[in-house]
Amino acid sequence: MLKLRRLVTFLLVLRLVQAASSEQSKLCKPLYTSSEWPSLSAWQSLNASISGNLLAPLPPAITCDKSKSQTYSKAVCDFVGKEWLLSSFHSDDPVSVAYPNWQDDACLPTAISNTSLNCNVEVFPKYVANTTSAAQVAEAVRFSVKTGVRLVVKGAAHDLLGR
Ligand SMILES: *[C@@H]1O[C@H](CO)[C@@H](O)[C@H](O)[C@H]1NC(C)=O
Ligand SMILES: *[C@@H]1O[C@H](CO)[C@@H](O)[C@H](O)[C@H]1NC(C)=O
Ligand SMILES: *[C@@H]1O[C@H](CO)[C@@H](O)[C@H](O)[C@H]1NC(C)=O
Repeated sequence: MLKLRRLVTFLLVLRLVQAASSEQSKLCKPLYTSSEWPSLSAWQSLNASISGNLLAPLPPAITCDKSKSQTYSKAVCDFVGKEWLLSSFHSDDPVSVAYPNWQDDACLPTAISNTSLNCNVEVFPKYVANTTSAAQVAEAVRFSVKTGVRLVVKGAAHDLLGR
């Protein structure tokens, strides 16, 4: 019998980083800035189909970015800086990965770098399906197939490819 050690699976819905011209858009997956990106109501339907487990998280170190006053928090930023070198912090976070180079070092905490305080949220997944059952995983995969939105499965361990 297979015993699942970790029921919770994060499915990350990523968008491509590079801009798509109309010619490219036939080949590329939709970006959230492109017209092919699913409507808000389509995302709400996905959310309903997975029991409200759709998240729209921001990268944790956005709390260090003073230019974004709505999310800036010195206390949270300091906490993120302290946790940053623990792989468990990144595996528990819906969008962070243990090797932030795969995210262009786009949003690092102040404790690690003072050069990337202008967080670029565009390299991070827009939505995360925080699924808790096989049926919910199936819904998320179906949504990705239907809409073309890129799907990335986030594992809970080390992955040198950054997932
Ligand atoms: C998904 O639905 C839940 C429950 O209604 C809600 O709390 C959550 O904010 C929704 N997620 C998104 C991304 O809108
Ligand atoms: C970034 O700047 C702050 C404030 O000047 C300083 O306390 C911190 O040590 C710096 N961090 C790094 C990694 O240089
Ligand atoms: C994802 O779902 C699990 C199980 O329901 C829950 O414990 C966890 O807090 C959720 N993650 C986030 C970031 O909401």
